[in-house]
Amino acid sequence: MKIGVLGSGKVAKGLGKAWIEKAHEVWLGSRNPISEDNLKWAKDVGPHGQVRSLKEAAQFGEVILLAINPWTQLEGVIQSIKKEIAGKVVIDVSNNIEFSSTPKLAFTDRSLGQAVQQWATDAYVVKTLNHLPVATMIRPKAHGISPAIMWISGDQDKAKSVVASLIRDLGWNEVVDLGNLEKSRLQEVIGLTTSVIITDLFSKQK
Ligand SMILES: NC(=O)c1ccc[n+]([C@@H]2O[C@H](COP(=O)([O-])OP(=O)(O)OC[C@H]3O[C@@H](n4cnc5c(N)ncnc54)[C@H](OP(=O)(O)O)[C@@H]3O)[C@@H](O)[C@H]2O)c1
Repeated sequence: MKIGVLGSGKVAKGLGKAWIEKAHEVWLGSRNPISEDNLKWAKDVGPHGQVRSLKEAAQFGEVILLAINPWTQLEGVIQSIKKEIAGKVVIDVSNNIEFSSTPKLAFTDRSLGQAVQQWATDAYVVKTLNHLPVATMIRPKAHGISPAIMWISGDQDKAKSVVASLIRDLGWNEVVDLGNLEKSRLQEVIGLTTSVIITDLFSKQK
């Protein structure tokens, strides 16, 4: 499958490489495709991975992964490639956490997944993987996650089935369908919780 990734950071490079190892073709989209890091990644993954502009990656992908950070940039990036992603499956792994003395989700009336679907009106958004650090999104069993069960939410069954298959390619045994995108609220609360726990663990280790 052709996968277009918007972004070329940790999640983009990690998931991109893992999918290439499963015989998918992956183009990362970057504002600077020829940065040292991007050229190194492209060399490392071989001929089935490239780093191009955001628009080219969005055009290339049959499935699109959003890997943009910070989340506040998501709406603008989606607007800039809205035509290219129309009718496509879009994987949303993002979190809209506001880090303060009491970390919280930025929206109270909807999830970020629902907002992404509103911005990408003509695409089929599926939320998943957002609650884990990138290293554990890939090969979960090697990181002690057992049973390896992942969950997804989205408004279109066909899109969820495509994403479930890509998640299994990352090493997950089972993919649970939580329901429509409204359920991404649950996923984002778990993302907030794991993020607070991990931040706390790191601060204790220092
Ligand atoms: N890292 C994790 O462990 C983890 C875990 C769970 C979920 N996530 C989610 O995964 C997503 C990506 O995280 P990450 O850790 O991969 O972030 P990252 O390493 O900081 O990379 C972020 C990417 O976003 C791009 N970007 C930022 N603003 C942009 C803009 N205005 N236009 C175009 N590109 C822009 C950056 O491009 P430049 O390189 O050009 O600046 C970079 O490629 C986020 O939504 C995050 O919440 C991450």
